[in-house]
Order: sequence, then structure tokens, then C-alpha cells
Amino acid sequence: MKNLENIQGSRFYGRRQSKPLKKSSATRLKKYFPIYSVVLPEDGLLDYQKLFSHNPDEIWLEIGFGKGEHLKEQAKSNPHIGILGCEPFINGVSGLVDHIHKENLSNVRFFMDDARLLMDALPDASISRVFILFPDPWPKKRHHKRRVVCAGNLKVISRILKDGAELRIATDHQDYRRWILARLLENSDFTWQADGPENWHKRSADWPATRYEQKALEAGRKSAYMTFIRTSRKQVA
Ligand SMILES: C[S@@+](CC[C@H](N)C(=O)[O-])C[C@H]1O[C@@H](n2cnc3c(N)ncnc32)[C@H](O)[C@@H]1O
Repeated sequence: MKNLENIQGSRFYGRRQSKPLKKSSATRLKKYFPIYSVVLPEDGLLDYQKLFSHNPDEIWLEIGFGKGEHLKEQAKSNPHIGILGCEPFINGVSGLVDHIHKENLSNVRFFMDDARLLMDALPDASISRVFILFPDPWPKKRHHKRRVVCAGNLKVISRILKDGAELRIATDHQDYRRWILARLLENSDFTWQADGPENWHKRSADWPATRYEQKALEAGRKSAYMTFIRTSRKQVA
């Protein structure tokens, strides 16, 4: 079982902490961690519906939520949804906890580790939306195997998504955009919902901004917002 003092890594390559947390944030994280963090079962699947007290209509999952700006906005706009967020970076999780505290959000749960560990514990066809927003591009060729969007993770995402569910991915990195499209377009479990750049250079109204999108804008980089739909299992079978 994982707790705040015993965070174990698996396939996560980024940093887990930058500067020390402010005393107030550290106190808040300690207070909220036992209530809002997801504890994986020793074996078997996670009883994900029991995580929430409001019997959510759907469960959404955000992989690498950073400081949680997007997750917070989605949780506020969609109180009937239960949102799971994965982020191994403690300063990011602390940012989300600050939002939970300020906005009094009860439909959010976080997992402070590699998303793959949580996804492996989720049942088939349990998730209605997955977000991967501005994943680390790992630009050096020898680091490409670290990219979160990869065949192995897409297989798991495909397994946990319901038929017709959405996978939303954003990036400001040209090479990673090509990489993402190549992997998803060759994957018959997904169809891309766009017919040209005029669709994917614009973020829809129900797609809140993130910190990294803001950084990209300030640096003059265009972002791509791509939505893929999980194809129906019946059609494929
Ligand atoms: C470039 S940041 C983007 C953060 C945020 N989505 C945004 O747009 O502002 C990528 C984030 O993904 C997280 N990340 C990387 N690999 C991950 C993994 N395997 N599971 C969960 N989060 C991961 C990193 O810790 C980092 O915070």
C-alpha cells in the first residue's frame, strides 16, 4: 500500500519534487492526502466507484495534471463527474490540493505516482474520458521511449475507455504531435475527430487551459488539441 512517505516509482522519468513546499501547502497536503488520494489494492482491481461519495455519472482521468488548473476547472464545471488525476510531482499535487481546498471540490481524487500503476488497476471500459495535456516531449531520440503517448500506454488506455469515450491530447511540440498522430492513426481502437488544422489548432470551450499551454503561448508556439474516440468493440469484433 502506498502512502505519502512511501512513494515508489515505476515508469516515471520526470522529477518528483522541485522547491520545498510552503508550510501552509505542506500542512494542507498532509491533511487532504488520506481523504483525496487513491490507494491501490494489493491485488485485484480498484473499486473506483467507491472512491466518490456522489455516485458519479462518469469517471474521467487526467494523466500528468501538472498543478491541476485543467482538472480543477473540469471538476467545477462537471460536478456529476468523478475525476481521477495522476501526477507524481509533489509540488503539482500540492497545487491541486490548494485548488480543492479553495473551491471546495469533492469530485476529485488524485494518485501521486505513475499513471500506469493506476490504469493497470482499473477495470475494462470504466473510463469515459482521458486527458493527456502537454506531456513531456522528451525531444532527444534516445529518450523517445520515455514518452507517455506510446503503444503500450495506448493499449491500456484503450482497454479502460468505454466505447465512444474520448481521449484528448494536447501538445505544443511539432515532433511529438507527429509522433502522437502516427501512433493513434495506425491504431484501429481510435478514430481522430478532425479533418484539418482549423479543427485541431483551436481548443473547444469545454477544454480549459493549462499552465504549459500558457508557457507555449508566451513563447510563440502553436498548440494542437486532438480528440480521439474509442471505437466500438462490437465494430472491431
Ligand atoms: C509538461 S508537464 C504538463 C503539465 C500539465 N498537464 C500542463 O499542461 O500544464 C507534464 C506532466 O506530466 C507528468 N507525468 C509524466 N509522466 C507521467 C506518468 N507516467 N504518470 C503521471 N504523470 C506523469 C509530469 O510530472 C509533469 O507534471
